[in-house]
Amino acid sequence: MTTSDVVELSAKVLAPNYRRAPVAFREGRGMRLWDLEGKQYLDFLAGIAVDVLGHCHPKHVEAIQRQAATLIHVSNIFHIPEQAELGRLLVEVTEIPDGRALFCNSGAEACETAIKLARKGGRALRGTDVYEIIVAGGGFHGRTMGALSATLTPKYHEGFEPLVPGFVGVPFNDLGAVERAVGERTAAVMIEPVQGEGGIHVARDDYLRGLRGLCDERGLVLVFDEIQCGFGRTGKWFTYQHAGVTPDIVTLAKGLGGGFPIGAIVARAPLMEVLQPGTHGTTFGGSPLACATAAAVIRTINEENLVANAAAMGDYFMSRLWKLAETMPVIKEVRGRGLMVAMELGIPSDPVVAACLRRGLLVNSVRPTVIRFVPPLIVTRQDIDEAVGILGSVLAEQAQVADTPAGKPAGR
Ligand SMILES: Cc1ncc(COP(=O)(O)O)c(C=O)c1O
Repeated sequence: MTTSDVVELSAKVLAPNYRRAPVAFREGRGMRLWDLEGKQYLDFLAGIAVDVLGHCHPKHVEAIQRQAATLIHVSNIFHIPEQAELGRLLVEVTEIPDGRALFCNSGAEACETAIKLARKGGRALRGTDVYEIIVAGGGFHGRTMGALSATLTPKYHEGFEPLVPGFVGVPFNDLGAVERAVGERTAAVMIEPVQGEGGIHVARDDYLRGLRGLCDERGLVLVFDEIQCGFGRTGKWFTYQHAGVTPDIVTLAKGLGGGFPIGAIVARAPLMEVLQPGTHGTTFGGSPLACATAAAVIRTINEENLVANAAAMGDYFMSRLWKLAETMPVIKEVRGRGLMVAMELGIPSDPVVAACLRRGLLVNSVRPTVIRFVPPLIVTRQDIDEAVGILGSVLAEQAQVADTPAGKPAGR
């Protein structure tokens, strides 16, 4: 099959819900991907913050192959050793006191689980009928109905209403707004410590600490959605660890399986207690295969010091981008934490992303003028130098195109 065969077949048999670049990959190794025609790409997107070990890391592949040849799926009506072991590792790395893990299959499902637990657990702990969840503008929690309702951006809602009631919106990074939004029905506050889909906006550490203090004072459940920003990406295992606080519930997916689908929440034991047998569950959640794979991801991140690498390479990458910004007025801002980085441009980002793709660099647009960089945690200085080189020449070219009469928006 050639790429054009795939594009043609996809148009005939697949739902049109994804805006896909006209590229189809055949193979991946480390930071590199190869398309069907053999062209090589440097991956600064990692399947949108998923492939934390890069592509086909030998330890990842070995864990999948070994477990697939041993036992793939049973059911949660039995004990699953791989699930218990992954639970142990997650309780350790999340540092949630007396933490308990619960497994599912995706980020949206992890957020659904957190929403359900915040309501049921909030009611049980407070002894009153609390159900409202305070969420931040610009946040993203997934596409299922509960997670979608927790996501305030109207474009994601169109045609899918009515939404699930009980979500109260506040501006991001504004503690006073959260304080004012707390009412007698409030059960929880749920935010991303770095907003990913919203354009890479980093929560201030004092905001995270303030949320912890407020939730303690008012008896609210604090949920951090670390599906995109967790798993070493910001230079700590979890972003909240920069602020020295822990949530009552953390949601996980993306990097957890390193590309194998798995989601999870880790919550404090007194909350998790409300999920007694029969209250919640999912057929595939925490299968031997998914759990053995995720455990291998965590061990490999530890063995190869990839959290520290994310911190060091994140600093290096941002410094290179700031330097580029000094000479290129088209770059309006560089922001992020660790290896979760965005560049705000004075021109539309889609043509820049397309030009990077033509030059063999994978990045994506996360807003009409914002480019997102979420490379694998194995990235090196050489990879960063190469990416910044491509980006610099693409931006120089695209800034010029945007400056020609044809490239200027009408009316200018
Ligand atoms: C912070 C956050 N939460 C939830 C989700 C939803 O995850 P999934 O696409 O696995 O359902 C995403 C996906 O981008 C995300 O970034």
